[in-house]
Amino acid sequence: MSGIENLDLQSIVADIHRDLTPRLGEGKVADYIPQLARVDPQSFGIAIVGVDGQVYKAGDAEVPFSIQSISKVFTLTLALGKHGENIWKRVGREPSGSAFNSIVQLEHEHGVPRNPFINAGAIAITDLVLAGHTPREAIGEIVRFIRYLADDEDIVIDHEVAKSEAATGYRNFALANFMRSFGKLDHPVELVLGTYFHQCALSMTCVQLAKAGLFLAASGTNPLSHHSVVTSQRARRINALMLTCGHYDGSGDFAYRVGLPGKSGVGGGILCVAPGKASVAVWSPGLNHNGNSLLGSRALEMLASRTGWSVFGA
Ligand code: DON
Repeated sequence: MSGIENLDLQSIVADIHRDLTPRLGEGKVADYIPQLARVDPQSFGIAIVGVDGQVYKAGDAEVPFSIQSISKVFTLTLALGKHGENIWKRVGREPSGSAFNSIVQLEHEHGVPRNPFINAGAIAITDLVLAGHTPREAIGEIVRFIRYLADDEDIVIDHEVAKSEAATGYRNFALANFMRSFGKLDHPVELVLGTYFHQCALSMTCVQLAKAGLFLAASGTNPLSHHSVVTSQRARRINALMLTCGHYDGSGDFAYRVGLPGKSGVGGGILCVAPGKASVAVWSPGLNHNGNSLLGSRALEMLASRTGWSVFGA
């Protein structure tokens, strides 16, 4: 069956799955959040949702996994909706060149994190989402927003994952305490992190995730549900941040190899946007040394080369 621009996208995803099958299990599954280490390292899923609404999938595309840092794209979108451009007083828009959980730049930059996708930046964004709410209300709002984006009421939080991270999230407590000491968090650390750990523990399938990201491929409106999410300018800007910062200190390499905006999570997922064409989600739990899915990145590199979808030219 043909897809966008007469590409046979179903064959392309099936071929990518088949070509990567001998490599399943490569990379290192995240274990600093104990509950994440329980996942099957051989899992692999890929789903493409075209702006025309067609869905193409292969492998474990309907198996839920922990989206972790991919949630940062959705909370950024929510925070921009609530506070507009004022959020940039609290977080920058530059690549960090450091690990996702690094604390080194925070002191130099007086508690203002480099971008909304490193942990410190995402914690600052969650603090903004929390404004005027209890953590329970804010978590409810985040879940409702993601269900609205994906047009799917079945999306839930895995509370075991949230609990597991709360029990072992020493780094995030350090980052949040550091920011609070600079006066850069409005709410107590426990409340901000309680909310943050729950947003990271959202459990979604590749199909649900690709649908949730579709507004970014379609100028801010989900063409399937017709839900209007953001203006086209805001969608473009979120994509720009995903391209430059979405893979931490691996962002340059991801842009070089794939050439598309993408956001990774330590659960092994990546949400990738081909503007004007499709939203893509891949999942393979084994990570590379930057904490990004090893085979997920490879799958997207294969997809970009087989479709000519790189934003830098075919
Ligand atoms: O805060 C953490 O460490 C995790 N909840 C999320 C980190 C993450 O997904 C980094 N991405 N590759």
